[in-house]
Amino acid sequence: MMKKTASKKLTHLAIIMDGNGRWAQKRGLPRAMGHRAGVEALRRIVELCPGNQIEYLTVYAFSTENWKRPQTEVQALMALLNEFIDKELTLLHQNGVCIRVLGDIEPLAPSLRKKIDHAMAITAQNKKLVLSLALNYGGRRELLQAAKALAYRALKGENPENWQEDDLAAELFTKGMPEPDLLIRTGGDLRVSNFLLWQIAYTELWCTDIFWPDFGEEELMAALAAFKGRQRRFGGV
Ligand code: FPP
Repeated sequence: MMKKTASKKLTHLAIIMDGNGRWAQKRGLPRAMGHRAGVEALRRIVELCPGNQIEYLTVYAFSTENWKRPQTEVQALMALLNEFIDKELTLLHQNGVCIRVLGDIEPLAPSLRKKIDHAMAITAQNKKLVLSLALNYGGRRELLQAAKALAYRALKGENPENWQEDDLAAELFTKGMPEPDLLIRTGGDLRVSNFLLWQIAYTELWCTDIFWPDFGEEELMAALAAFKGRQRRFGGV
């Protein structure tokens, strides 16, 4: 098990970007406009990460449950992802951002998948910031997949008695990444919503009523200041 020491360094920030729909409704706009504004907010936060020594940013872009939304909204989200890669990839790459995906992108349109694969391939060596997009992601599904991977290893002859927590962690989408130090949730709800269930065991939580499209530098600074004030004991005293 990786040794945890009490630390105030915020290396990995995770965000549940909630409230896009309500932000749009409040303005009498279609929900898709809220997601569009949400992409703008994401861009702002990506730009702020390196200056704040954040090396990993992981955002919940589309959950395994989001397929239940009206088809038009699902299509709008997919179109935004397409547009995001088309418009931002060059700049992200120039700025040293490595793009990763957490989740199973198999059910996405082949053309979008190709675009995502290309974005991951060309940015794979970038070191400034690892931007992980959780796409068709669910924490339970990720754990089930890891359990299956371990089961297959056992069938091939490995002895499960030799496995430690790190062996399971190495079967998750987040393989090789540090665990999130802080999880921000916008939009007023106080729940984890099947996001990074294993990885957030010791993560500090910070929730705000602000809708995601309204989240900017001021809110990020407030969250970072709150994090600095927390005592992280990782189960110790
Ligand atoms: C939650 O708001 C947000 C989502 C389901 C998607 C988040 C997506 C983005 C910010 C943009 C897409 C991302 C990329 C990388 C292109 P909600 O619709 O649940 O809001 P509500 O709770 O007010 O209805």
